[in-house]
Amino acid sequence: MSTPMFVHILHVVGARPNFMKAASVLRALSNAGFRQSLVHTGQHYDANMSDVFFRELEIPKPDVNLAVGSGSHAQQTARIMTGFESVVLERNPDLVVVYGDVNSTVAAALVCAKLQIPVAHVEAGLRSNDRSMPEEINRLLTDQLSDLLFTPSEDADRNLQREGIPVERIHLVGNVMIDTLVHLLPRALKKKSKGFPARYALVTLHRPSNVDDPDVLRRILSSILAVSKKKDSNNQDLAVVFPMHPRTRVRVSQFGMVTDGLHICDPLSYLEFLALQAGATVVLTDSGGIQEESTFLGVPCLTLRANTERPITVEIGTNVLIGNNTDRLRDELAKILNGQQKKGTIPPLWDGQAGERIARILQQYFEKRARPAAVSSGLI
Ligand code: UD1
Repeated sequence: MSTPMFVHILHVVGARPNFMKAASVLRALSNAGFRQSLVHTGQHYDANMSDVFFRELEIPKPDVNLAVGSGSHAQQTARIMTGFESVVLERNPDLVVVYGDVNSTVAAALVCAKLQIPVAHVEAGLRSNDRSMPEEINRLLTDQLSDLLFTPSEDADRNLQREGIPVERIHLVGNVMIDTLVHLLPRALKKKSKGFPARYALVTLHRPSNVDDPDVLRRILSSILAVSKKKDSNNQDLAVVFPMHPRTRVRVSQFGMVTDGLHICDPLSYLEFLALQAGATVVLTDSGGIQEESTFLGVPCLTLRANTERPITVEIGTNVLIGNNTDRLRDELAKILNGQQKKGTIPPLWDGQAGERIARILQQYFEKRARPAAVSSGLI
């Protein structure tokens, strides 16, 4: 049991932000010799939200795809749980690894907790302290259900301890999504600047709180349209490039909103998006992962949310929380265009090695678990 090749680790991914995190851990555990399998819940299913990431990130083809598709939170979560329970019963893994904070994460963790299969949560402990976000509910519950909690930064450790998680379960390993960025940035940069404007703001928007209400979405879009009319200190235009999430695309057309003047495109692949991000004058986003990537890249990030579960990107990174304050957006943007943007540093352990740290901790975890069985059977 203590030898990795006799330990079966099953990973669960479902939605776009899971893929770049799992890519790093799958690679590190494979190098450490673990036996692994991969379940895709099918929460995201469009080729440009899923398949292209598997290809570019060199993630092995999933052993199982539950094909749950879209639905209400309860429907989606229930479909994942029902499908995943059969997979766990059939495959009987020694440990299940879940990632991030999407519905697939909490659904898989809950199934495992009931079946008494140990769960490791990668990217544990992040908190926005805003329970109106579905992801916050997913984070809180997944952490309570997990046996091993791998955290990206010290604030996450503090959150978990405050919630009563025993300290021996918490492991500060760094940021696995940054592992993938470090690994693939050179390849992404080779793709750079094919047909895109020289100076641009890169926009992403998909949070239900920003896109599901027509008044909120209209206000955000009009401030983004105002960005597209900005000039920098050299009187150059600032184009707006906006790869649009399917949720946002549906809302924009449902509410009949005007987006003339913006460079709107379909969701991009990992390498295309990373190249665009690295070259952006500013990023405007409501994504969690992009706040971290822009901090690592040293690109100014204005976050269109009132709070963040990644406060370290504000404390020491390039991120500024704008909320829905359009005056603040205008002021912060003016600073950036005048070359007075906030300077940031890279958080500790965001160094490309988080996956390796997880592999070492898992080796030790299984060595410890193997020992009592071996002793009791008289092998030692
Ligand atoms: C989900 C995650 C969110 C994450 C985001 C990244 C939850 C609760 N939310 O939000 O944390 O930041 O993924 O993208 O898990 N759709 C498609 N094609 C797809 C997938 C979705 O067209 O491949 C459309 C469907 O209309 C669907 C909608 O997008 O109803 C929302 O998808 P869903 O997975 O429910 O949530 P996201 O908004 O993508």
